[in-house]
Amino acid sequence: MGLSTLEKILAVLKEEFYLEENSTEVEKTPDEKGEKLRLLEERCRKCEKCNLYKTARNLVFSDGDHNSKLVFVGEAPGEEEDLQGKPFVGRAGRLLTSVLEEYGVKRESVYICNILKHRPPENRNPDVEEVAVCSPYLVEQLMIIKPLLVVTLGNYSTKFLLNTREGISSLRGALKKSPLGYNVLPTYHPAAVLRNINLMDEFRTDIKKALEFIEKGAD
Ligand code: URA
Repeated sequence: MGLSTLEKILAVLKEEFYLEENSTEVEKTPDEKGEKLRLLEERCRKCEKCNLYKTARNLVFSDGDHNSKLVFVGEAPGEEEDLQGKPFVGRAGRLLTSVLEEYGVKRESVYICNILKHRPPENRNPDVEEVAVCSPYLVEQLMIIKPLLVVTLGNYSTKFLLNTREGISSLRGALKKSPLGYNVLPTYHPAAVLRNINLMDEFRTDIKKALEFIEKGAD
């Protein structure tokens, strides 16, 4: 069987940055994490591996607390995100923020990012090449943060992190392990919930499940 996309990315990262197998290194302090993420963000800012930097107004690297145990991963910045340089600040983001708040969690206390760090023009779907060149940055982000749980929002991040072709409707709400070793809970993209309000109950249930998982400190 051939190497999966994720395995290829890991092999390249290990070669380029001498990352250790299974992250056996000593836990990074918050300051070390912040500094590593800052350097990674600078690399993303200078990245010209695809054309999206030419049309995007801002890099959209992340928002929230990099010491959080909970990370949300979306697809790609939209117009509002591109303007503000922050992920999930448009309508879909406001929905995510309000569901978190229903459960007493402030958006600033979790870490939020996307697969793509620059907006695709007209909010078109990411193409295969863009995901291939940008996703190693996400993998590095996760390796620095070492979250207890990653909630994947929608098809793109779910398929990438679980290395699957299965769609979100059959995967949502069930805890899985990524080949990278992370606990993953897939759920709908909040933009899909806005388009189809019937998905709202399941979306809420999934977010609640993620928060309970973190509270229990389960692994
Ligand atoms: N949709 C995403 O996938 N990410 C964002 O940051 C905003 C909308």
